[in-house]
Amino acid sequence: MTLTPSATLGIDFGTSNSAMAWADAGGQAQLIALEGHSVSMPTAVFYPAEEPGVHFGRDAVAQYLNGTEGRMMRSLKSLLGSSLLLETTQINHQRISFQDIITTFLAALHERASRTLGGVPRRVVMGRPVHFVDDSPERDAQAQQSLLQAALAAGFEEVSFQLEPIAAALDYERRLSRESTVLVADVGGGTSDFTVVRLGPGRLAQADRSVDVLATTGLHLGGTDFDHKLSLELLMPLLGYRHIGPDQREVPSRVFFDLSTWHLINWLYQQRALSQAQGLRSNYADKQLHERLMRVLGERLGHRMAYDVEQAKIGCSQLDAAAHMALPYIEAGLSARLESGDLREHLADMLGRTVACARECVKRAGLSDGAIDAIYLTGGSSALRPFQRALQSEFTDVALVEGDLFGGVASGLAYSVV
Ligand SMILES: Nc1ncnc2c1ncn2[C@@H]1O[C@H](COP(=O)(O)OP(=O)(O)OP(=O)(O)O)[C@@H](O)[C@H]1O
Ligand SMILES: [Mg+2]
Repeated sequence: MTLTPSATLGIDFGTSNSAMAWADAGGQAQLIALEGHSVSMPTAVFYPAEEPGVHFGRDAVAQYLNGTEGRMMRSLKSLLGSSLLLETTQINHQRISFQDIITTFLAALHERASRTLGGVPRRVVMGRPVHFVDDSPERDAQAQQSLLQAALAAGFEEVSFQLEPIAAALDYERRLSRESTVLVADVGGGTSDFTVVRLGPGRLAQADRSVDVLATTGLHLGGTDFDHKLSLELLMPLLGYRHIGPDQREVPSRVFFDLSTWHLINWLYQQRALSQAQGLRSNYADKQLHERLMRVLGERLGHRMAYDVEQAKIGCSQLDAAAHMALPYIEAGLSARLESGDLREHLADMLGRTVACARECVKRAGLSDGAIDAIYLTGGSSALRPFQRALQSEFTDVALVEGDLFGGVASGLAYSVV
């Protein structure tokens, strides 16, 4: 594998997982091994408390789940475009901003690409969702600018951006033997993006593909929001969410919302938040629930609960059967269950919005369903069974094609000529 000056590196910096691929002009994209043989890795950063150094990806998740004392960071992409990005957090003896943590993660990607390829292509195409932030063009532009700054600070050189669903389409195109009009659905951890695009082997050589993109739509909603909702419904009641206190009022819910939101969990471990949570004790009739809450916060178990809920979601969807969540790390014998019916019902509203976004995309393309040859599914959450069912019942006569869930966007970015 030798890099030539015409090589392009594609970086899919995802909310949940990241991947990279490279391609020479006219060549086949190759995914880059990031952790052992794995070509995607969790977008996770772990700073151990007791020792110097930083852990990334599966290694970060394993350190955290093994109980190593330290700080876990996930869903960093969700902070792009928000004021929280420049806030600093105490990590060991330093204060570090989330912008810096994103740079640190991208620098780890740079180092891994360099190690595997023996260098890093100058030309880099990064993916971006259709909207980083819904309904705010300024914050959306700011999000891309922050990501660009982080990439440059991490050592990447000529960085441009491509929409993630278009990248996914360019990857799918390599598998097609005839002209097709495709609805690409990229349903990931943080966003759901759609594009209607004309694809075909005869179009590969064209430099400007913008005429082939008939419409794009996107929603800031994805698998981490599904985790959030399932956590609120199934786990947070065990800590007092919707619990009626001695004054006949519910315990204030803010702490439960933050604790079930991947990128907000860390804020709850600050002294001020801990004192506020301690102060909720009088709002509880059942003090055992409050003790559980304080244990979760005191022992920093929030990411672990979010991780367990995510695994239950995936297991329940894959097996179409109930998933069991054992929670002995909170209290001996404590557990929760996710039934297939719960998955469907609790996510119905969000899945409905996601499918409506797909429908809007086809509408904007000015096409009837009969003109769509296939719906191409990519992104981890596109595998969710209730999502596929909801999408199929909206587009009854269009075939769903499952793609490369975790590597397709990176490959397509490497094919992008932007
Ligand atoms: N088999 C599965 N069924 C349902 N959901 C799944 C499955 N596998 C992974 N997921 C979910 O997919 C999400 C991650 O998907 P992916 O890696 O495509 O997202 P991402 O690229 O990191 O996010 P984004 O593109 O939104 O920035 C997670 O929320 C994860 O829980
Ligand atoms: Mg993605």
